[in-house]
Amino acid sequence: MGKVIVVTSGKGGVGKTTSTAALGAALAQNGEKVVVVDFDVGLRNLDLVMGAERRVVYDIVNVIQGEAKLTQALIRDKRLETLYLLPASQTRDKDNLTPEGVEKVIAALRNAFDWVICDSPAGIERGATLAMRHADIAIVVTNPEVSSVRDSDRIIGLLDSKTLKAENGEVMEKHLLLTRYDPVRAERGDMLKVDDVLDILSIPLLGIIPESMDVLRASNVGSPVTLADSTSAPARAYFEAARRLKGEVLPITIPGEKRSLFGKIFGRKAA
Ligand SMILES: Nc1ncnc2c1ncn2[C@@H]1O[C@H](COP(=O)(O)OP(=O)(O)O)[C@@H](O)[C@H]1O
Ligand SMILES: [Mg+2]
Repeated sequence: MGKVIVVTSGKGGVGKTTSTAALGAALAQNGEKVVVVDFDVGLRNLDLVMGAERRVVYDIVNVIQGEAKLTQALIRDKRLETLYLLPASQTRDKDNLTPEGVEKVIAALRNAFDWVICDSPAGIERGATLAMRHADIAIVVTNPEVSSVRDSDRIIGLLDSKTLKAENGEVMEKHLLLTRYDPVRAERGDMLKVDDVLDILSIPLLGIIPESMDVLRASNVGSPVTLADSTSAPARAYFEAARRLKGEVLPITIPGEKRSLFGKIFGRKAA
């Protein structure tokens, strides 16, 4: 049985789709069988970041509506044999995602893959709650700015109340992925520092992804950054985050600083 991860955030544009693609590829690059699922119906951008937009024939809505089999909708990555994409519909809206349909699809994927990584729309609307509903693990993507951190706090509240795990009285495993971190701007005070973020959001840190042109370059050629440029700083940070997902305890290097944090340790105490 595979693990289901939701990649979620309060605010849009923080790096969820980028992170879904990069973490999915990083796990697959290490031999894990991975499917990345696009729950952002309407925007359909995970296929672009994965470089699979011209290969989309059927999508998750077709599968839920019984118009296609799951195996027909899954797209195997051209570069990695163990990486698959279940795309979102470009044309239908998220009302076509029924709770029963989503449950069936996730159950089937969980049986067939080691990791099912769901790229969620931002916010607290239906699409986001459907994407998180069946998750075992949540990755809360946050940028080092006040509005993003505040909205992440609300999402953490939802993860602890609206998911199946929460309803069953279980604890959802939650990780913070701090993305687009720019040490120069943090030092200048234009952005929050790592410690400030950890003070507010007391969930374990999965990684810190630096702000980098390498991410944009990878996205422009339709490749997760871990594949496009595996030695770049953001790729290395994603590879380490993927290893932490698998349970390894590795120190987290703060970009621009010499000291390290330990990801499994909470908040301030980690410094
Ligand atoms: N580490 C990063 N460095 C630079 N740009 C980034 C980084 N992460 C994401 N971006 C850019 O930010 C924008 C939003 O990212 P995206 O992954 O689409 O966010 P979301 O899915 O949360 O809306 C994209 O243009 C993406 O290329
Ligand atoms: Mg997105």
